[in-house]
Amino acid sequence: MKANSFLKSTLVKRLLNFAPTALVACALGISGLAATAVAEETKAERDARMAWFREAKFGMFIHWGVYAVPAGTYKGEQVKGIGEWIMLNAKIPVAEYHDFAKQFNPVKYNPDDWVKIAKDAGMKYMVITSKHHDGFTLFPSDASKWNVAEATPYKKDLITPLCEAAHKQGLKFGTYYSQAQDWNNPGGAKAHGYKEGDGWDEAHKGSFDDYLAKVAVPQVREILTRIKPDILWWDTPVWMNEQRAKPLHDLLALRPGIITNNRLGGGYKGDTETPEQFIPATGFGDRDWETCMTMNGTWGYKSYDDNWKPTETLIRNLVDIVSKGGNYLLNVGPTAEGLIPEPSIQRLKEVGAWMKVNGDAIYGTTASPFWKLSWGRCTKKVTSDGGTLYLHVFDWPADGKLVVPGLRSKVTSARVLATKEKVSAEPAGENVVLNLPSKAPDAIASVIEVKFTGPLQVERILPIAQADGRFVLGAELADIHNSLRARAHLEGRGANARITRWDNPEARVSWDFNAVTAGRYLVKATVAGAGGGKLAVVMGKDSSNAEVPAAESKEDRIVDLGTVSVAKAGDCTLELKPDKENWKGFDLRGVTLTPVQSVSK
Ligand code: GLC
Repeated sequence: MKANSFLKSTLVKRLLNFAPTALVACALGISGLAATAVAEETKAERDARMAWFREAKFGMFIHWGVYAVPAGTYKGEQVKGIGEWIMLNAKIPVAEYHDFAKQFNPVKYNPDDWVKIAKDAGMKYMVITSKHHDGFTLFPSDASKWNVAEATPYKKDLITPLCEAAHKQGLKFGTYYSQAQDWNNPGGAKAHGYKEGDGWDEAHKGSFDDYLAKVAVPQVREILTRIKPDILWWDTPVWMNEQRAKPLHDLLALRPGIITNNRLGGGYKGDTETPEQFIPATGFGDRDWETCMTMNGTWGYKSYDDNWKPTETLIRNLVDIVSKGGNYLLNVGPTAEGLIPEPSIQRLKEVGAWMKVNGDAIYGTTASPFWKLSWGRCTKKVTSDGGTLYLHVFDWPADGKLVVPGLRSKVTSARVLATKEKVSAEPAGENVVLNLPSKAPDAIASVIEVKFTGPLQVERILPIAQADGRFVLGAELADIHNSLRARAHLEGRGANARITRWDNPEARVSWDFNAVTAGRYLVKATVAGAGGGKLAVVMGKDSSNAEVPAAESKEDRIVDLGTVSVAKAGDCTLELKPDKENWKGFDLRGVTLTPVQSVSK
């Protein structure tokens, strides 16, 4: 099978009605532990509390601390892993790590400049590490001497001035706080297989519960009462349980309106899901969410990490995330002198230039009503009697015709957002076709603003069988489901599209399609790369076990994955689930389903 035959799948429609009421996030519906700081919160109260976050879409994450001094190098050796983990990764003794603090003197730090960099990039909030896993607080603390005022020559609070600068310039402000891991204060959690009370240094010995009561709880109280942030961003709930998390959670009542994430532990769900370093295949239902990501390969500054993502990736990531209903929290790792690295500033300026022109298509928008769009992404604003679709075109059509699949609402006008140039729209069968100017105004993402009246109606167009009864489901039609550690992703477009870096068995891949008949299908995959592995091929309640043998060559090869049945005609999902014990991984171009026998119409 030729790889690009995956592109030729035909599609089917499904009418969806986007009544405005459905657009407002639904009630929490979380039983058991309170999900938020305010236990008895109504849906309207929650919507009001989350409103700024849902509007904002784009924020700056800042990982800053003593680790910026070694900046990835210890005793002349480059230490593998993310910069802020250097103390644990290199097992640096506590006293030696403290010596780095004596060189932490960020005299070039200017909070107003940092806020301006974020603001000019179009970011509406920032979240900074007030304490990372090394236990060092960037604010003065009465609960531990391991803080900026007492352990560094700088001696001054770094957090409150940033909070004030952010608020002065109209940005919201969040504090990241590592509540469990603390590699300095005795008893703090260590992760990575360490037992409670243990560490790599005698100085670590102590009770975790004592640490929580004497350090974490008082410090969180200091943050909430002295700094007064808008977000409390917990991280890594190792060794946590409900009993341990509760005193921390209860403190949140000190700061009505605060937003928290899902990383406190002990069953507390917080307000937001936090996919890290990946963009989920779809959103999280009614849950608010925020993807956090680095701009290079580290959160905390590493002097030699030059693995910078191009601006195109940053802008398209933002658009992709917002089109799925999430926020993008994009990281910078300042130096020990207090400067945001120049490559980050450069990229943020470029993102900002795009946001200046296209911000209307980002802020305050909600998720795309379409299933998948081959040329880009969509965001929307909907009112009770109409609204706006923002079509973010990544691949400008060569013939100038942009097909909007299954759009049934009455289009009243359309224009190129950047140039205000009018665009004509005409119905074409099940679709609307927009006649675009010949040149894209932006090589990365050009936005077409489409106004419609009445309720938003979109037909969900899922792949259907070809004339010969086969389903051809390419990599671009797949949903890739990663987890914290899995990084599978789509690479290339059209004939070159493939799912790559599928080396972690926690990642799953699925396709939605529409079957007109029930029946049994033979599943074949086109794979590339030398690896292999065992996997389950799942269709509804049916599944079969398959194996992709390792190969010598990296050429494309077709592998038989056995048969599965579609029990009932209609929308179906085929899923490939790696076997955790037997997985090396491979690149995947797509699958085909060939009917073996039809059981019913
Ligand atoms: C992880 C890491 C940490 C980083 C964070 C950002 O949990 O432990 O270093 O701060 O992710 O989301």
